[in-house]
Amino acid sequence: MQTPIMIRGFAVFKGFLDAAAQAALVEDLRTVARAAPMRAPVTRGGKRMSVRMTSAGRVGWVSDRRGYRYELLQPGGEAWPAIPDRILRLWRDVTGLARPPDCCLVNYYGEGARMGLHQDRDEGDFSWPVVSVSLGDDGLFRMGGPARGGKTESLWLNSGDVVVMQGDARLAFHGVDRIRFGASRLLPDGGRINVTLRVVSPD
Ligand code: SIN
Ligand code: MN
Repeated sequence: MQTPIMIRGFAVFKGFLDAAAQAALVEDLRTVARAAPMRAPVTRGGKRMSVRMTSAGRVGWVSDRRGYRYELLQPGGEAWPAIPDRILRLWRDVTGLARPPDCCLVNYYGEGARMGLHQDRDEGDFSWPVVSVSLGDDGLFRMGGPARGGKTESLWLNSGDVVVMQGDARLAFHGVDRIRFGASRLLPDGGRINVTLRVVSPD
């Protein structure tokens, strides 16, 4: 396996997926989005996020006026589609874990979309890693520490890069300041997709 670059505990696998693997994942994600349409969620404060989202897996991540949480059903009442096999394989390859992730969150960043600094902390057990895959346009990924307001470091994530947040980085603040809309030709209409894989239940 490729040796990752380590930045503040974040393990960054540059160019982990080749062009064919990236295109295959995009096809898989189209199937997911047909079964579970992308939505732009609102936060507890009522602000609409610039990123559009959907999920696959046993549970999906949702945000609305009641806050952030995982749900067994889509807002429309249907179960979430299964996590595509290729994505489960990627999780196994990167983490070496037999335990599959419970949730595959799919974020789409159109022109001007961004994601503010946050921690991933809606899960029941932070000892499992979080795996994040970048597809399409470049995204400027900001990595901090366990406290808001601490020092941060930024890195452009390109299509095919994979980031693992584990150990000290598992509860580290992170976000995407901006994307280079149109930098990649992977998605015909431009934009960036980020796929985040997480174990949610503490079993
Ligand atoms: C996230 O933290 O949910 C997304 C990170 C990314 O888009 O790279
Ligand atoms: Mn996150």
